[in-house]
Amino acid sequence: MAPDRPPVAAPLRPRALSGIQPTAGSFHLGNYLGAIRQYVALQETHDAFYMVVDLHAITVPQDPAELRANTRLAAAQLLAAGLDPERCTLFIQSHVPEHAQLGWVMNCLTGFGEASRMTQFKDKSAKQGADRATVGLFTYPVLQVADILLYQADAVPVGEDQRQHIELTRDLAERFNTRFGDTFTIPAPHIVKEVAKIYDLQDPAIKMSKSASTPKGLINLLDEPKTTAKKVKSAVTDTDTVIRFDPVDKPGVSNLLTIYSTLTGKAIADLEKEYEGRMYGALKTDLAEVMVEFVTPFRTRTQEYLDDPGTLDSILAKGAEKARAVAAETLATTFDRMGFLPAKH
Ligand code: TRP
Repeated sequence: MAPDRPPVAAPLRPRALSGIQPTAGSFHLGNYLGAIRQYVALQETHDAFYMVVDLHAITVPQDPAELRANTRLAAAQLLAAGLDPERCTLFIQSHVPEHAQLGWVMNCLTGFGEASRMTQFKDKSAKQGADRATVGLFTYPVLQVADILLYQADAVPVGEDQRQHIELTRDLAERFNTRFGDTFTIPAPHIVKEVAKIYDLQDPAIKMSKSASTPKGLINLLDEPKTTAKKVKSAVTDTDTVIRFDPVDKPGVSNLLTIYSTLTGKAIADLEKEYEGRMYGALKTDLAEVMVEFVTPFRTRTQEYLDDPGTLDSILAKGAEKARAVAAETLATTFDRMGFLPAKH
């Protein structure tokens, strides 16, 4: 009789899992305030797994040397931002082969039409030109499903733009569980509503992103602090002079207030009072200082990890080992449930 594998043991704390792409070089302020701060906070309440998703990075053309450097850089920045290898599991996706393996299984459960409805694919393939887009880009969300299900994650901290991929994850987990027996935890997106949305400093109508209107609109955390201060001081405001939070009529000033408030923990209403009757210049000068105080130690810590690749590699090796223990167990159960003949070693 086939052994009836017990479901994967539930961890004591709820599990959180997220991934970040190693494509950008420096993280920007939007990444940090929107996602990475969440990662850091969840270490305290969850059994958290975070990975640098290098397999996802090759869904668009990449340069090998750049990918290698950016993968290290992403890990170093996550550590510099406060991920603590004693309190979470930080690893590189390609170090855990189970991602690609479960990815294949999930590909075989996903409807072609279902995958075709993923809006991020539509956007990205439109940007590339439809005939240059790869099949890998098409199945990108399915690999993400595997990332999440391998760890039996309860919560997936992501931005609003990832909601559809988490929905797909839930659908596929339910489909598998219905067809083959309870195997996967159904995850929920952890999208913090009041998380600050940060806009481009030169064009506050668009989200801060690395495809910014101009480099002046984007705060890269690894920029020279001087450059950062300059960007803050030349942020677009308006011709009025009142410092008031009003995203519709005063998007530039409101964006500065949001950043200020998020970095210092001061309430926006208090900032409005503090700056009553003062000029935009005063707000910008103070915010520039706050920013410099924030980015300076971040840059130093990142550089320390980069200067000591032995330590970084050993953190990532330990992370991969911890991750693999969980992933291998889930994959074995999955294969067994699907009817794959067990390999005899
Ligand atoms: N697609 C995510 C993004 O672009 C990155 C990602 C890959 C991810 N795998 C994941 C996020 C698993 C959460 C969970 O931001």
